[in-house]
Amino acid sequence: MTKPTPTEIGQGYDDFAELLDQLWGDNLHHGYWEDESDGASLDEATNRLTGKLAGMLAIEPGARLLDVGCGVGEPAARLVRDHGITAVGISISKRQVERAGERAAAAGLADRLSFEYADAMDLPFPDASFDIVWALESLHHMPDRWHVIRQAARVLRPGGRLAIGDFLLRGEHGSGADAAARVDLVRQGVLKIVDLDEYLSRIREAGLEPEVAEDISDRTRPSWGKSAEIFTAVRDQAVRHIGAEQFERTLSNFRQLSDAPMVGYVLLTARKPA
Ligand SMILES: C[S@@+](CC[C@H](N)C(=O)[O-])C[C@H]1O[C@@H](n2cnc3c(N)ncnc32)[C@H](O)[C@@H]1O
Repeated sequence: MTKPTPTEIGQGYDDFAELLDQLWGDNLHHGYWEDESDGASLDEATNRLTGKLAGMLAIEPGARLLDVGCGVGEPAARLVRDHGITAVGISISKRQVERAGERAAAAGLADRLSFEYADAMDLPFPDASFDIVWALESLHHMPDRWHVIRQAARVLRPGGRLAIGDFLLRGEHGSGADAAARVDLVRQGVLKIVDLDEYLSRIREAGLEPEVAEDISDRTRPSWGKSAEIFTAVRDQAVRHIGAEQFERTLSNFRQLSDAPMVGYVLLTARKPA
């Protein structure tokens, strides 16, 4: 399976905007549940994940943040509101950029929060122009994560911080036919992921110093099962959008990933040396 190009990814987000609204709401990322008994809704849990990554940064009021792969802008809006910062979000989906801008205006944040259509592989910003670069669940889409991280290092000012939420390859593959099928799924490129050691060494190669790395796989894992549930509930609408075959394939991916200990989730921060 070849990896879709950025333009194709953007087209996919444009085409399936309504479906994604139904599936995920305002945040297009996984949720964070404290434990098995945590009854948080998807909305609460996804906002919680944004808060969790933000909490690793000690964000100063007035800081300037770049959100790489901003979705419909909810995480950036939350950061601007909660921390008194300014932010620019970029996305490869024109519809997302439009909608994120409308949402910022409706929330009275337009003077501090803006959105642009841009490819993260070629960030259209000067060197050392941001205090924080934020990439929450967007790097797995990029043709080359490490290139984007080098770009992030370029646009960060000395002393600035990179914050990442991303999928992670973990050692526990499980055994038997099911585990083999899941390994295949990942190899086929449904998710291109690497282990934490490789992640950290690539961050160092980009000239950044890793700070915090928290494997939160067990906290985010319920997200796959919830996606399967919601997807099933909107089956008719989804089939109209993507056809029955693609619907069944996607649903089966969600189900396999909900029981795939090898596919984890990490929150990471790194600092550009002053
Ligand atoms: C899973 S969504 C996450 C959205 C957002 N960070 C959130 O947490 O709600 C992935 C985002 O990455 C963006 N993206 C993917 N490839 C991109 C690229 N090459 N350049 C810019 N944005 C990209 C998509 O358009 C989408 O907004």
